Amino acid sequence: MKKIVFATSNPHKLEELQAICKDRCDVEFVLPPAGFDPVENGETFEENSLIKAQEAARISGLPALADDSGLCVDALDGAPGIHSARYAPTARERIDKLLKAMEGVKDRKAKFVCAMTLVNAQGDVLCKKIGECHGKIAFTQSGTHGFGYDPVFVVDGTNYTMAELSEEEKNKISHRALALEQIINSLNSDNSTY
Ligand code: IMP
Repeated sequence: MKKIVFATSNPHKLEELQAICKDRCDVEFVLPPAGFDPVENGETFEENSLIKAQEAARISGLPALADDSGLCVDALDGAPGIHSARYAPTARERIDKLLKAMEGVKDRKAKFVCAMTLVNAQGDVLCKKIGECHGKIAFTQSGTHGFGYDPVFVVDGTNYTMAELSEEEKNKISHRALALEQIINSLNSDNSTY
């Protein structure tokens, strides 16, 4: 079985990835060794996912897959975007800040974006994909599942926030799942250079 480092220090993300990939590809995903601390100073999701993947490959000596994701709100010119995790100090404050910024705003269109990059053990890019999940910013929070901005993100085509969906439902439509789906297809393709 192929071994690929998933460039995150978040074990929850690794579990999510393993759940989506289960029985879909012949790969064992593992966490990076201790000391994984990439400097995410890229200006786009793509750049940051490449930085993370190359750092994980460098310290592990193995191929690596990385993701970088965030919420982009049309009326806020794409903010919080790549700054989603640092928009305010705590998860609760981040949501409060977003709802405040959206007070009185009619156009509530938003999207979650995830960039994924797979590199070989030398850090060369093998595959890069983007997944997007479209929706709207709610006026109040609802739901208890998920994390981050899920309680204020109403998924297009539903009346539910991401936090009202089960983990299984989210894993079918999320930006991460959609990016990963394309990576899996590439790993499974006949001409995969992995
Ligand atoms: P990163 O990809 O781990 O750097 O995540 C960036 C930030 O984007 C997270 O800390 C969340 O604030 C936000 N984010 C990314 N994906 C999701 C999601 O699926 N739901 C809610 N918030 C998310």
